[in-house]
Amino acid sequence: MKFGHFDDKSREYVIETPHTPLPWINYLGVNDFHSLISNTCGGYSFYKDAKLRRITRYRYNNVPRDISGRFFYINDKGTIWSPAYLPCKTALDSYTCRHGLSYSIFESSKNGLALKITCFVPLNDNCEINKVELTNTTGREKKFSFYSAVEFCLYNAIDDANNYQRNLNLAEVEIDNNTIYHKTEYRERRNHYAFYYSSRKHDGFDTSRDEFLGLENGWDQPVCVLKKTSKDSIVHDYYPIGCHRFELTLKPHESKTIIFILGYVENPEDKKWESKDVINKVKAKAIIEKYKSVKNVDKALNDLKKYWDGLLDAFNVKSNIVKFDRMANIWNQYQCMNTYLMSRSASYYETGTGRGMGFRDSCQDLLGFVHLIPDKAKERIIDIASIQFTDGSTYHQYQPLTKCGNADVGSGFNDDPLWLVAATVAYIKETGDTKILDIPTPFDNKKGSEKSLYDHLLISLNHTIDNLGPHGLPLIGRADWNDCLNLNCFSKTDGESFQTVENNDTHIAESVFIAGMFVKYGKEFVELANHLGKKDDAKHIQEYVDSIEKATIKYGFDYDGGWFKRAYDAYGHEVGSSKCEEGKIFIEPQGFCTMAGIGKDLGLGKKALEASKKYLYDDWGAELLNPPYSSYHLELGEISSYPEGVKENGAVFNHNNPWLTLAFCEEGEAEDAFDLYKRNAPSFIEDKSEIHKTEPYVYSQMIAGRYSPCYGQAKNSWLTGSATWSFVALSEGILGIKPQFDGLEIKPCLSKEFKEVKIKRKFRNCSFDIDIINKGTGNETLTVNGKKQTSSLIKLDKDVKNYSVIVNL
Ligand code: BGC
Ligand code: NOJ
Repeated sequence: MKFGHFDDKSREYVIETPHTPLPWINYLGVNDFHSLISNTCGGYSFYKDAKLRRITRYRYNNVPRDISGRFFYINDKGTIWSPAYLPCKTALDSYTCRHGLSYSIFESSKNGLALKITCFVPLNDNCEINKVELTNTTGREKKFSFYSAVEFCLYNAIDDANNYQRNLNLAEVEIDNNTIYHKTEYRERRNHYAFYYSSRKHDGFDTSRDEFLGLENGWDQPVCVLKKTSKDSIVHDYYPIGCHRFELTLKPHESKTIIFILGYVENPEDKKWESKDVINKVKAKAIIEKYKSVKNVDKALNDLKKYWDGLLDAFNVKSNIVKFDRMANIWNQYQCMNTYLMSRSASYYETGTGRGMGFRDSCQDLLGFVHLIPDKAKERIIDIASIQFTDGSTYHQYQPLTKCGNADVGSGFNDDPLWLVAATVAYIKETGDTKILDIPTPFDNKKGSEKSLYDHLLISLNHTIDNLGPHGLPLIGRADWNDCLNLNCFSKTDGESFQTVENNDTHIAESVFIAGMFVKYGKEFVELANHLGKKDDAKHIQEYVDSIEKATIKYGFDYDGGWFKRAYDAYGHEVGSSKCEEGKIFIEPQGFCTMAGIGKDLGLGKKALEASKKYLYDDWGAELLNPPYSSYHLELGEISSYPEGVKENGAVFNHNNPWLTLAFCEEGEAEDAFDLYKRNAPSFIEDKSEIHKTEPYVYSQMIAGRYSPCYGQAKNSWLTGSATWSFVALSEGILGIKPQFDGLEIKPCLSKEFKEVKIKRKFRNCSFDIDIINKGTGNETLTVNGKKQTSSLIKLDKDVKNYSVIVNL
């Protein structure tokens, strides 16, 4: 069952009912000001950092769900309703929510009054704009009250939710005509404030939540809305809000537009005040001035659309499979951009208070957005490398506001350093910019500790080399990509975090997955070092690529089962082998070791993929492991803490399904690659939305597996590495468009379902028009600008900017 439809022309998903199985959200803002917005106008805003600069409040775990947002109310002769359905919950005569690229539009009507609300964050200003158009669709005059409301957060979202003894004394506002200024704590150490403006002169306002709602009412029934009044309240302590009231009269078929701006401003220390206790509003007024007119707002929205046109121009696909094209051209790239912006910090499942920018996560995310925003990718790589320690290990995350690493979600994950190699190599292959390697980059952000980024890469690889275990395989440390495979943690205390509990590493537990990573990214580094003429480094790393590959073939493959083992635990026991009672086979090493080409001559990859199909597949893709753990294992950690079939304990993890897809492509298995791709690509499973439940336009982290009573239900939408890896599988695997150090390689692995695919790809200031004709001959021939080529690699000619490529398959 579907709850909406894709509108590819407008690049929107159109939600046709407010009663989606879960709130279906969108992200507004592509620079520093961000908002989450659900299909019922729920969500919140923040500046740069959802933990440290939260502007509006959101109550996760609320009942009913999703009752915090930018809300609007109408009191039309006693009928109280909200145009996006919540919070009033009054049935509407019509409703749609269009989530587009960084904007959302709500259209609804009731009793002859139609509203259209357009929400977005303009490209270069720190504010969210809500343009509200109210239309009387009847032949009679309409008189009604209209309200807008937001609830302010006291900036630090954790403190805001904890420290009531202090916070409930602080609220301060200023009212200046139609603008409500939230200046709480500005009188002391903060140099920032928020404001909420309306372009129409209000007939009343409120800044005290309790005055607006009344003592016992919720957001669905504010006393002021019920009574068609405002208290003009000035909050002094408790809960600050911004609320405007308008008494409107619309003639038959008349429309009126009101623009609301929720903004954020920072002032320098010496320019904080206009006069005693009166804040300096110059910057706020400049934003207001800019966006108070409909013309300018429409232009700003248009600029945003053009920004997205420009971005998505870098990669565009036209095939005979519409569902594939809409993932390729719109939604997959859009999700990649939002994971760039948010990492794993703020979604409806990540509260913005838990995780900042993850080292491993952000490095992987980069693979999906580097072709869109190479300059930002460069900055991100340096930010990430700067939280590394001198021995190559690293903090696991940093806060976006400070860019400093912290150990809040642990450290000592031995896969982390290798992802930096993956990200940097991807950046160089995309841009050709090897100069990035010379950038002096600190360790732990300490001044004076800088070494070149190239050295950081070498140190990262050496970190694996310096941490090999008894079988010559990499030690796992706290965990590897699978955060829940905690082989050195032994947690017996309830509630203890598996990520931060003491790491009792005895240097025995090893990871076959990290071995796969080392071989894959080690080889890429060797190629890079050779490319740069650094022969000694290339030789050194190649030596270990070879020895770790050998160790994996010898100790990392289960020849009885026919698949790659997962690990050795702290007792030296095998994990993920046919000897185990549960957790016999894991997905991660099947994908990564095959992608790395480990034991290719021996047919190990082919066997591993066959085994994955046989044991891991369900309707929604490949499950993470099989069979799931049915009881808690002290020696395995969090993985066995989850019920069977969910999360790391046997769900379909959308993040590592693409590793299998890419592995199929590595082995030339086009039908298998596309079959797996389709099992969880959002547009291909849209019609199962009532089971899948999360948004049908983006990937979720997981889909519950066969052993779960909730089989098929997805969790944790939006902020997941599934976006990036699915894009890599789609673009580099299936379509086979692979940036290389020396040019662009074109080596598709196309299922028979594709007839002809036309691709436009921008690459290093050149444009490629690629036409793939899939006759299924099994032989690739390539013609570039009219000339037949023998190799699949197209080297760039400095005098040629446009490449017209015909690929016959
Ligand atoms: C989750 C993992 C996540 C980890 C770190 C665990 O509870 O299952 O998916 O990576 O927490 O936040
Ligand atoms: C989600 C985390 O963000 C990611 O870093 C981790 O690799 C996966 N979960 C698997 O545990």
